[in-house]
Amino acid sequence: MSRFRGMRPIVTAAVLALASLPFVPALSTGRASQQKKQDRIAYMRRKLEFSKNVLEGLALEQYPMIEKNAKALKVLSQAAAWEVPMIPNATDYVVLTSEFQRYTDDLVKAAKQGNIDGATLAYVKLTMNCVQCHKYVRFASQ
Ligand code: HEC
Repeated sequence: MSRFRGMRPIVTAAVLALASLPFVPALSTGRASQQKKQDRIAYMRRKLEFSKNVLEGLALEQYPMIEKNAKALKVLSQAAAWEVPMIPNATDYVVLTSEFQRYTDDLVKAAKQGNIDGATLAYVKLTMNCVQCHKYVRFASQ
C-alpha cells in the first residue's frame, strides 16, 4: 500500500489533466469551430432563460424582474460581438443584434416607468427579433 502512496500525486495530476482537456482551447479549426458552436448553444440557452424570466416579470407585473433580466439580455448580446465574423453576410446579423439591444433598452425604460403595456410591446418585438435572426441564420447556413 505504502508503495503506491508516492504515486498518488502523479495519478491526481493525470486525472486533473484529463479533466481539464475539454477546456484546453481546441487546436484544429474543426475542433475550434465545434467549441464555438458549443459556446454559442450555451450562450443561447442563457438568452432563453433570461427572456423567460422577462415573461414571468411581465405576467406578474414585477418590474425589477423585468429590468434585471432585460439588462442581462443586453449584456449577453454585447458579449456576442466575437461571433459575428463567423456568420456569412454579417451586416444583417449586426443590424438584428443592434435592434435586439434597442428592445432590451425599451424594456428597461418601460419597466422603470411602471409601464406594463410598453414593456409587453417591447417584449413582443424582442421575441420577433429572436425568431427573425433564427430564420436568417437558417437561411444563411443553407
Ligand atoms: C442576432 C442573431 C440572434 C438573435 C437575436 C437570437 N439568436 Fe438565438 N441563435 C442564434 C444562432 C446563430 C443560433 C445557432 C447556434 C448554433 O447552432 O451554432 C441560435 C440558437 C438558439 C437556440 C438553440 C440553442 C440550442 O440548444 O441548440 C436557442 C434556445 C436560442 N437561440 C434562443 C434565443 C432567444 C430566446 C433569443 C431572443 C431572446 C435569441 N435566441 C435571439 C442567433 C440569434
